[in-house]
Amino acid sequence: MKGVILAGGLGTRLRPLTLVTNKHLLPVYDRPMIYYPIQCLLNAGIKEILIVTGGEHAGDFLKLLRNGKHLGVKELAYTYQEGEGGIADALKLAEDFAEGGKIAVVLGDNIIENNIRRAVADFFSQPAGAKVLLKEVDDPQRFGVARMEGSRIVEIIEKPKAPPSNLAVTGLYLYDNDVFEIARTLKPSGRGELEITDVNNAYLQKGALTHDVLDGWWTDAGTFESLFRASKLVAEGGANHLEPGKARQEGVAASR
Ligand code: DAU
Repeated sequence: MKGVILAGGLGTRLRPLTLVTNKHLLPVYDRPMIYYPIQCLLNAGIKEILIVTGGEHAGDFLKLLRNGKHLGVKELAYTYQEGEGGIADALKLAEDFAEGGKIAVVLGDNIIENNIRRAVADFFSQPAGAKVLLKEVDDPQRFGVARMEGSRIVEIIEKPKAPPSNLAVTGLYLYDNDVFEIARTLKPSGRGELEITDVNNAYLQKGALTHDVLDGWWTDAGTFESLFRASKLVAEGGANHLEPGKARQEGVAASR
């Protein structure tokens, strides 16, 4: 399976930091933010990775990541999202890269403690459809939130004012190739974006969405509060993260 990291958008919530570089190149403790989703995919055994970026500082990715070999990436590809049309808009650009196969998608500002290898393996044996990874959070209003009936997801609501549960849909998604067909049918939401939640609800409607609940911590890093929290969690020693000295020398952690 190939991996896609969505690292476009303008990062307006992190201004003025994002006036001079891309949000995903900002430090999270001792490494640039983008190293964590790369590491997440490598840890799951996914070594062919596409980075979708955008904005004025896209060239900085190349300086940092080059061809990715020094990080353990087998094939590193890049593409450029014009504007900020939303997560599903960015994902559309991965269609050729996916070559008709399944993909693992990680949002460039999502960081996890543990490994998603098992979920990826389960999805590999799932004949079709999609899988989302959920996590209990204290502030579900900030996320896509699952409405549950028993252990079944019946709806995903983007940033609900009155969350029906505390289960956030994390920015780790596993899709079959129908995702590109679905993305073509989307209409911009109230905030003018093609929403990944609409993609997930489309899978749900055809009875093709499975889910797992992540163990270990999970955070995004797209606001000052969550960026700080991410650095703190990593610094305090996430299982997924190399000893800082080694990380500084070699970049992302070795796959394990
Ligand atoms: O972090 C998980 C949450 O991410 C989910 O629970 C939500 O359902 C999902 O909509 C998303 O919410 P956010 O509002 O936090 O997404 P944000 O706009 O911060 O974008 C997250 C990442 O997606 C960002 O770091 C880069 C990528 N992105 C975003 C946009 C809007 C793109 O590549 N292109 C874009 O146009």
